[in-house]
Amino acid sequence: MSHTTQLWTPDSLVLDPDSGSLTGSVAGFDAACDCLAGGGLVAIPTETVYGLAADATNGKAVAGIFDAKSRPSFNPLISHLPSLDAAQKHGQFNEAALKLAKAFWPGPLTLVVPKKGDSAIADLTTAGLGSVALRVPDAPLMRALSFALDKPLAAPSANRSGRVSPTHAAHVMEELEGRIDMVADLGPCSVGVESSVVYCADGEPVTLLRPGGLATEAIEACLGQPLARAGSDDQAPTSPGMLTSHYAPSRPVRLNAASARAGEALIAFGPTLPQGAEAAAEIINLSPTGDSLEAAKNLFAALRALDRDEITAIAVAPIPMDGLGEAINDRLKRAAA
Ligand code: TXA
Ligand code: MG
Repeated sequence: MSHTTQLWTPDSLVLDPDSGSLTGSVAGFDAACDCLAGGGLVAIPTETVYGLAADATNGKAVAGIFDAKSRPSFNPLISHLPSLDAAQKHGQFNEAALKLAKAFWPGPLTLVVPKKGDSAIADLTTAGLGSVALRVPDAPLMRALSFALDKPLAAPSANRSGRVSPTHAAHVMEELEGRIDMVADLGPCSVGVESSVVYCADGEPVTLLRPGGLATEAIEACLGQPLARAGSDDQAPTSPGMLTSHYAPSRPVRLNAASARAGEALIAFGPTLPQGAEAAAEIINLSPTGDSLEAAKNLFAALRALDRDEITAIAVAPIPMDGLGEAINDRLKRAAA
């Protein structure tokens, strides 16, 4: 697998808000579309993280995603669509799913729903499951390309398997240059952690499969009921991708650190630093004001920046669970595993 990876910086993209179609022309857009139509791999930013996209209906192209990421097992992938209308061609939306889609799409929410029998999404994309993960992202390029192609785009995070998800185009180039066709650079991602994944099917509890870029409180407020949690409840469905350790920097990660040790780097949160912070080799404060949205946006870049030889370990100060704190703590727990 040897490619020349083209770095593409699209000019500002303006979309029709309902359909997700591009209004006007953008240099390079048709080439990216042709690349995807021909089974190519294009890294495309979303507001959560950069995704590695391929035509979700083309099993061979989707196999290329697993190959480029060196992903050992065929975990099911999220299919990205330009609109709720387009998504409903592939999945059965019950009342809860419709309510959530209408409230939060486009946005950092993925819905896992029963797959429609006539959906063209490839079995490899859904790992042969009867369900399908669908998302309408807020970021314009993924929506516009899916609309222009008239195909769902399968995209996991655009990193080598087991590594931290990329929130900048440079992160994607570091890990996937030479292995994929194109990287679209639209700057840093505004949310910074992956989408929240919610399972909705009749006869089963609405279940949070993965906490993510949409605060769990907001999802529960929209539904007017608490979510079941994958793993903590016997009745609740689970998600294959959540079983493995993920997001791992090469250095040990020490969570809930009340103090820093010499040689360690410190990831801090909020106005008060842990004891002994002066001894830290380096300090990155995810949000000096204690804002979980700001912290989520900075999390993966901080883990990458501190994953260097001269750092012996990464200590992380306690981060409260409210807002995006739940998703941040989930990713940190996996980084420490
Ligand atoms: O923000 C995001 O979600 C990013 C951007 C690119 O959209 N994508 C992402 O994809 O994080 P990935 O492949 O790293 O995570 C997809 C998650 C996995 O935990 C997977 O197991 C779960 O969604 N998933 C996908 N299809 C599923 C299904 N049919 N049933 C249960 N879980 C599913
Ligand atoms: Mg991932």
